[in-house]
This record gives sequence, C-alpha cells and structure tokens, in this order.
Amino acid sequence: MSADSLAHGKHAHLQTGIGVDTPADTVVHAVDDIEEYDNRLPNWWLLTFYATIIFSVGYFFHYQMLGGEGTISSYEREMQPVWAAEAARLRAAGAVTPQMLTALARDQSIVSQGRALFATNCASCHAANGGGGIGPNLTDSAWIHGGAADRIYRTITTGVTNKGMPAWGAQLGADRVQAITAFVLTMKNTNVPGGRAAQGTPE
Ligand code: HEC
Repeated sequence: MSADSLAHGKHAHLQTGIGVDTPADTVVHAVDDIEEYDNRLPNWWLLTFYATIIFSVGYFFHYQMLGGEGTISSYEREMQPVWAAEAARLRAAGAVTPQMLTALARDQSIVSQGRALFATNCASCHAANGGGGIGPNLTDSAWIHGGAADRIYRTITTGVTNKGMPAWGAQLGADRVQAITAFVLTMKNTNVPGGRAAQGTPE
C-alpha cells in the first residue's frame, strides 16, 4: 500500500476484486485499526465451499462405509508383482533367511497358500485366527521359542514334540512350511480378540 492510499483514512480501502468496500458497509470488528466488514461472500467462494461439503459426503460413504480402497492397500496391490518377484528370487537363492521369509510374507499368493495350510494343519490347536487354544496365541508379541522369522520357521519345522507341538518339516516339506511361516508372520502382533493369554517372552 502506498503512503497516498494510507492517507485516505479509515474508509479508503484496497480493492481486492472480491467485493468492493464502501463507507456504508457495517464494521463488525475493528482491532488495531484493521476493520472487518459484513460483506456478502462472493458466489465463486460459496460454490466452492458447498462443493467441498457435498464431496465430503461422498468421500465419507466411499471410504468409511463402503470399504473404498485406501492409499495403503492400493500401494500394496500395486507393489504385489515387485514383492512376488523378490520372494521368488530369494527363494531361488535357496537359503532360508529372515529376509527371505519376510519377503514371502508380502507375497499374497504365498500367504493365501499358507493360510489354507494353517486352517488344515494348525487351526485345531492354535485356532483358525491364530488366537491359540491347546497351543499358544500366535497373534500376540510374546514368544516361547522366539518370534523372529527364522525362529518361527525352525519351531514349525522341528516342532516341540515333548510339549505337544508336532514337527511339520518332514510331513509338509520345506516349501509349505515356508508358506505357513509367511502366513504366521502376517498374524504376528495383530492381537486377535479373545486370544489366549500371552506366554513366553514379550518381544
Ligand atoms: C496338536 C496341537 C498342535 C498343532 C496341530 C500345532 N501346534 Fe503349534 N504348538 C502347540 C503347542 C502345545 C505349542 C507350545 C509348545 C511349548 O510350550 O513349547 C505350540 C507352539 C507353536 C509355536 C511357537 C509359539 C511360541 O510362542 O514360540 C508356533 C510358531 C507354532 N506352534 C506354529 C504351529 C503351526 C504353524 C502349526 C501347523 C503347521 C502348528 N503349530 C500346529 C500345539 C500344536
């Protein structure tokens, strides 16, 4: 603002293009000589405002009520081919490492294979949702034999036969035990409701 326009005093105002002030406007607030007028909001502004309200209703129903795909799941869906290729590459390398098992746990087709095998072989003792029963809860953060990917793989392969956990390595083969391990990794720390109380060491 130039010194000249300042000199016009209280009722000389900058023209913003959004509605032109006139001395007849009602001042609703005045603080430190800054005056707020009771002007009508411009139509373009009101239209934009009402449009955001209408948009929010559609947004709410799509994402909150109808399960619209959020950014995390759309990212995971788009990354699937990359993660599956990574899992296949590490599997082909041969060594059963924590990285390899973690990569398998991100490959949806391996996880669903593991889910099916879990339902058939493990659910009787660990519950279908992994919450535990005869065997411990696999969805909490406490582990008797270690919750790291390679420890879980080893427990499932060799079992804890003197405590009632069968050895699955010979019966199912390494590939299927890996798929089950991948599924167990997806259940870890999900704390399903109604699960058995934690056993072992919290990790
Ligand atoms: C006959 C019952 C039974 C079946 C079937 C069974 N488990 Fe177990 N599982 C147990 C018991 C009991 C334990 C606890 C062993 C202990 O106390 O050391 C256990 C322990 C485990 C643990 C270690 C948990 C920890 O806290 O360290 C894992 C992992 C596990 N089972 C996975 C599986 C998977 C995967 C299957 C299916 C392939 C399976 N179990 C099938 C009874 C069973």
